[in-house]
Parts: sequence; C-alpha cells; structure tokens
Amino acid sequence: MDQVPIFDVKGAVYSYNETGPPALDGVDLTVMPGEWVAVLGANGSGKSTLAKVCNALLVPAQGACFSLGLDTSDPGNAGAVRQGVALVFQNPDDQIVASVVEEDVAFGPENLGLPSGEIERRVDRALELVSLTDLRKRGSYSLSGGQKQRLALAGALALEPKALVLDESTSMLDPDGRRSFLGCLGELNRLGMTILQITHAVEDIMFSGRIVVLGAGRVLWDGRQHGFWDGKYREFGFSEPPELALYRELASRGLIDPLTAPRVDDMLEALCL
Ligand SMILES: Nc1ncnc2c1ncn2[C@@H]1O[C@H](COP(=O)(O)OP(=O)(O)OP(=O)(O)O)[C@@H](O)[C@H]1O
Ligand SMILES: [Mg+2]
Repeated sequence: MDQVPIFDVKGAVYSYNETGPPALDGVDLTVMPGEWVAVLGANGSGKSTLAKVCNALLVPAQGACFSLGLDTSDPGNAGAVRQGVALVFQNPDDQIVASVVEEDVAFGPENLGLPSGEIERRVDRALELVSLTDLRKRGSYSLSGGQKQRLALAGALALEPKALVLDESTSMLDPDGRRSFLGCLGELNRLGMTILQITHAVEDIMFSGRIVVLGAGRVLWDGRQHGFWDGKYREFGFSEPPELALYRELASRGLIDPLTAPRVDDMLEALCL
C-alpha cells in the first residue's frame, strides 16, 4: 500500500489581508513519513504561515492542505491534526508552562486526560529523548536557553506526535545549544519522526535530508542537500557555512562520498575513522 504523506500542500494560497501580495502564493509541498525537510527563506517569505497551514492553525483560501491524510479545511479534523503535528516555536520561554521540568513535560499528557502510569511513561521517554532526564527535578526557568528549548521539545514529544514542525526553534540558541538541539532532532528522525524544520539560517540545515527554499510565498527550489550546496545556495543569497569547507576537504580526501548530503554526523564519523 502506498504511504500517505504527512503533509500534502497543494497550490496553497493564504492572505492575512486583502491588500498586498499573499503570504503563501500557490505552495506545493509533499512530505512523506520519516522525512526531515528544512524550509529555508528570508524574513517574510511565508515560512511561519506554511508551518501554521501544516498544523491546521490556518486554512488555505485556495488550494488545500492535507496533514496526516486529513483535509485541514474540515474543522472536524483540526483537533486530530494539532494533536498529531506538534509545533515548536522560537522562544522556549513562551512554551514552558510549569515551574519544574518534569511537571512541564507532563502538562500536555495530563490535559489529554491520560492515566497516571501512561503520563509517567511518556514523561520518562520524552525527557530521555532530549537528554534532560538528569535535570527532571530542576526549576524550568533555571535551565539554559538550549536546555529550555529541549524542554519545549520534550513537552511536544510527550503528546506523541507523528510529526514535528519547528519554527525557528534554534534561532535563540548559542552554537552549543543549537548543536545539541539539532542532535536531538537527528536522533528523533532516526527513530522515524517526520520533521519540518523552518529556519532562515543556512547553518541549521546540514542535517536535513531535503531542502525547500521559499521566497515571496512560493517554493523557489526543492531538492537534496548536495544539489543545494552545488551552487544553489549562492543564487538564493546564502553564504557558505563553515561545515561546508570541512565537507569539501573530507570529500577531496576520499573520506566522504561527494555525492551524499553534507551531513554533520557523516562528517564526524569520517573524522573519527
Ligand atoms: N498576523 C499577520 N497579519 C498580517 N500579516 C501577516 C501576519 N503574519 C504574517 N504576515 C505577513 O505575511 C507574510 C509572510 O509572513 P511569515 O510570518 O509567514 O514569514 P516568515 O518567513 O515566517 O518570516 P520571518 O522569517 O520573519 O519569521 C509577511 O509579509 C508578513 O508581513
Ligand atoms: Mg516566521
């Protein structure tokens, strides 16, 4: 049986107001289960609008969005879509609701009215997935920015979503926080989680399998990493992240296959050989 796409956005048009160009101007995007897709674009290109369309917070005025196989224009599907597609935003402080780490993660499952044993199981698993088990009794607001963002991610994971939509979730983190957050995403993706990662930072996209470039509410490019790094990034005005120089060096020494995506974990593996 054919797999049902996690997101199937078809010619989606969305405008916040009647004047000016639409925020989404005919977007087509299909994301299959287990994919990690990075959506890259400048400020105002429509990234957050696309995230909200995928999560059924916004419904396209023209075209359609099917999330988890459900038509988001049917209000009866909104609950199931929002439960199955977790959104993680930019500022972790906006997403923390309880003063103790483990209580914060338990908040979502408690609201679902789950039995206490199931809540405990989900909290344990979510904390483990984001490597915060040791800090579970800590005050949520005493965590570092990177730890807080991983806590926000744990809160989302405790709902056991089928997909994660991350809207600029690393933009407030320092390089270490960013790396450990992206590392968590890598592990989740290996476990089968579908990820739609929205960012304007080119250094954030080295882990994803596929890159989609948005501009003025349209998909300008959609392809694999090596196609993007083969020169496309310059066309869209992005500069080369430092990891790319390392990737080229490793490829030139035959330590990495130049046709594979320049993924940070592959580079680390090549360096450890
Ligand atoms: N609530 C709103 N009301 C009116 N216009 C909006 C609203 N939200 C977004 N827009 C407009 O829609 C367009 C797309 O915005 P969107 O937030 O989706 O872009 P973005 O790519 O996420 O930008 P950024 O990188 O700044 O987060 C922009 O022109 C923006 O001004
Ligand atoms: Mg945005």
